[in-house]
Amino acid sequence: MKSSVFIATSADGYIATIDGGVEWLETNVDLGEQSDMGFNSFIDSVDCMIMGRGCMEKLASFNFTPETWPYGGIRIIALSRSIKVVPQSLRSRVELYSGDIPTLISRLENKGFKHAYIDGGATITSFLNHKLINEMTITQVPILLGSGKVLFGESNQQINLQHARATVFAEEKEHAAMVLEWIRRKDPRMDIELKDYLFTDKPIAHFHL
Ligand SMILES: NC(=O)c1ccc[n+]([C@@H]2O[C@H](COP(=O)([O-])OP(=O)(O)OC[C@H]3O[C@@H](n4cnc5c(N)ncnc54)[C@H](OP(=O)(O)O)[C@@H]3O)[C@@H](O)[C@H]2O)c1
Repeated sequence: MKSSVFIATSADGYIATIDGGVEWLETNVDLGEQSDMGFNSFIDSVDCMIMGRGCMEKLASFNFTPETWPYGGIRIIALSRSIKVVPQSLRSRVELYSGDIPTLISRLENKGFKHAYIDGGATITSFLNHKLINEMTITQVPILLGSGKVLFGESNQQINLQHARATVFAEEKEHAAMVLEWIRRKDPRMDIELKDYLFTDKPIAHFHL
C-alpha cells in the first residue's frame, strides 16, 4: 500500500499555530482553476486516510455539512490512545484506532486498500520513523508564523528525499504584491489605493507617485 502526505506549511515549517489555528492557510489570491492546489485530484487518488487525534479534533471543530465535507467517501481512521469516543460531529465519518501503525497498515492492505492519506505532524513523523511514507506534497505558504506545531518532529534517522516537482501558484500576483509593498514603504499615502491595486492587472503607472 502506498502512503502519501498532502499538507501545507508556513515558510518556517509550521502546520498550525500553537493553539492549532490554520486560518493563515486561507488566501485572497484568485488562483482560478488551480484554486484547490491539486487537493481534489489527490483525494480522488486515495481510498483511506489516517490522521492523528490533533487533526481529528480540528476537523470536528469545523462542523462540516454533507455538502462541505472535503474527503468524499474514503475510510478515515484517527489515531488516539487517550480518547475512546469520536467527537459528535464526526461520529459517522471517523473511526478510532489505538494500536501500532505497521499493524494498521497491514490490516488495511489485507482488506484491499491501496493508497492512504496520512495527516497530522506527529502522525506523519511516526510514519516516517516506520519508513512508511512514499510520497509527500508540501505546499509552502508565504508566511513566517514564528512558532506553532511542526510538520516534522524528531526523527530516529536521516531520510533522503528525491525531489519530484515544484509548482509556483500565482507567481505574477505575488510579485505584484511585493512590488507594491515596496512602493507603499516609499510613500505611505499609497495605503488607501493599495487594496485597489493588489491582484488586479492595473499597471503600476496607474498610480501617481
Ligand atoms: N497545515 C495543514 O495543511 C494542516 C493539515 C492537517 C492538520 N493541520 C493541523 O495540525 C494539527 C495536528 O497535528 P499534530 O502534529 O498536532 O497532531 P496529530 O498528528 O494530528 O495528532 C497527534 C496525536 O495522535 C495520537 N497518536 C496515537 N498514536 C500515534 C502515533 N503512533 N503517532 C502519532 N500520533 C499518535 C496521539 O493522541 P493521543 O494523545 O490521544 O494518543 C497524538 O497526540 C492541528 O492543529 C491541525 O489543524 C494542519
